[in-house]
Amino acid sequence: MNRKFFLLTLLLVFCSREAGAQGLAVERLADDNCIIRVSADVTEKYLLLPVEERAPEANIRVAAEGVQQRIIHVRLALNKVDYYVPLLLDEWRGRNLALWTHVNIDRSNRGGVAGEVFLKEIRLADSFDTTNRERYRPVFHHTPLYGWMNDPNGMFYEDGTWHLFYQYNPYGSMWGNMNWGHSTSTDLVHWRHEAVAIAPDAHGAIFSGSCVVDKEGTAGFGRGAVVALYTAADAVQSQCLAYSTDGGRTFQKYVGNPILTADVADFRDPNMFWNEETGAWNLILAAGQEMRIYSSPDLKSWTEESRFGMGLGCHGGVWECPDLMKVQVEGSKESKWVLLCNINPGGPFGGSATQYFVGDFDGHTFTVDDVARYEGGKALWMDYGKDHYATVSWSNAPEGRRTVMAWMSNWEYANDVPTQQFRSANSIARDVFLYRVGKECYLGSRPAKEYDGKGLDKTYRVNGSTAITLTNPEGDEFRISYDQKAMTLTCDRTKCGDTSFSQSFPAVTVAPVHRKLTSLRVFVDECSVEVFGNNGEVVLTNLVFPKSKLK
Ligand code: FRU
Repeated sequence: MNRKFFLLTLLLVFCSREAGAQGLAVERLADDNCIIRVSADVTEKYLLLPVEERAPEANIRVAAEGVQQRIIHVRLALNKVDYYVPLLLDEWRGRNLALWTHVNIDRSNRGGVAGEVFLKEIRLADSFDTTNRERYRPVFHHTPLYGWMNDPNGMFYEDGTWHLFYQYNPYGSMWGNMNWGHSTSTDLVHWRHEAVAIAPDAHGAIFSGSCVVDKEGTAGFGRGAVVALYTAADAVQSQCLAYSTDGGRTFQKYVGNPILTADVADFRDPNMFWNEETGAWNLILAAGQEMRIYSSPDLKSWTEESRFGMGLGCHGGVWECPDLMKVQVEGSKESKWVLLCNINPGGPFGGSATQYFVGDFDGHTFTVDDVARYEGGKALWMDYGKDHYATVSWSNAPEGRRTVMAWMSNWEYANDVPTQQFRSANSIARDVFLYRVGKECYLGSRPAKEYDGKGLDKTYRVNGSTAITLTNPEGDEFRISYDQKAMTLTCDRTKCGDTSFSQSFPAVTVAPVHRKLTSLRVFVDECSVEVFGNNGEVVLTNLVFPKSKLK
């Protein structure tokens, strides 16, 4: 046990009340079940649940005086406590709680729930210590305060604030219990952790989706309401609406949910936007190996317009998290529509990645400019690193910008990376742009200007083939190399610290370069290296776990 964790545990022991203390009781029941009771008169803020990360998930059905409140899945500690997760008791103040708990382990030769560590270590407490205890916690990238994060969701900008919602597990640092977590920032560097915005209900877990600011109040929730559309995931996936009348701080779920269903298993990640050209709302979502496009006057009733994707681009996995946006071609008055399509697996170096299509959209149908670029499984990738997924854009970004953010991980090993208090960070925010080389149009992504002049990056002048090695006193090496003859930009993390947690982690990732590089801009944080050739024409985002910070 490290010193910090030891002190934390000591603190917990003194400031909390464990099972058997008044107000908290655990009783063994038959067949791997137990009941955890919290009595109506407890005053503590939290029930702290002890987690052992590699234990199987226990199912906990929370009932308040006989009425079911929620079901959560927690890796309750069987042999040792890795960390605690808090269950906030505020909403049930003054009511008796029963947590019906089923531990999923094979104990055919051990009898029922008996000596498991969680029985002894579960406790009531007034505080939950979120002081960082992770060596690999990034400094200028967004991370959840604790728990697991994947895709960015529902991002919107308003009144100087960047809202970032995200796929969040508040009850452990591995995927599960999907909620929409919420953070806000005014500079894209410092993030404030807000309360969970949308929690699961009887329709299912809260999967990815989007938000818009409904300036005219078309949905009937008032002018300026923030409207969220997300996937409710249970046995099937359906689309549900929620709205906020306090600028995105709290959300109410729409009474008519679900608002959009279909006869297809993978049906998710709705992304809506206001289409100025047609004066209507559009929605794009992933349905198996295709995207479906809809339109609506009021964000509630959606009409299917068209489908996109069969036979085009990479189909090595499920299509997820689409986005559709109009982007200007730099140095011209021309604009094109870009369709972002996240895919997992099937990425150029295994696992998850973001492909894109360039074309036109008339409010009904999206058509690519040049079919040949996407035929026979060919794809254009937005980022050629291994850790750039679920990229979507901010709605209502200032100055007409198209600002995007990715989840900086890969489903191949996201649950196994060597952190514990939290798992996963976002990429830095980037503004996308199109640039032409000959007749081909490519998507670039440039670090948002909010990062300029803050000493977060280093720019290297490039004149012909170049190699840069980022290193530390322990000898870890991250190699960036530009080969002007082959026109490739490569990142090699195979000799860079801990790569042992997954066979898929050590990697050499290679990007095609479309016009000669004159600069490399590199952002290094505690566990990531983001490389921007020509300030965003070619980008590689990779995680790293070196023994100390790379320089
Ligand atoms: C992408 C994804 C989405 C889904 C979410 C669930 O990473 O699989 O398609 O909505 O994660 O957490």
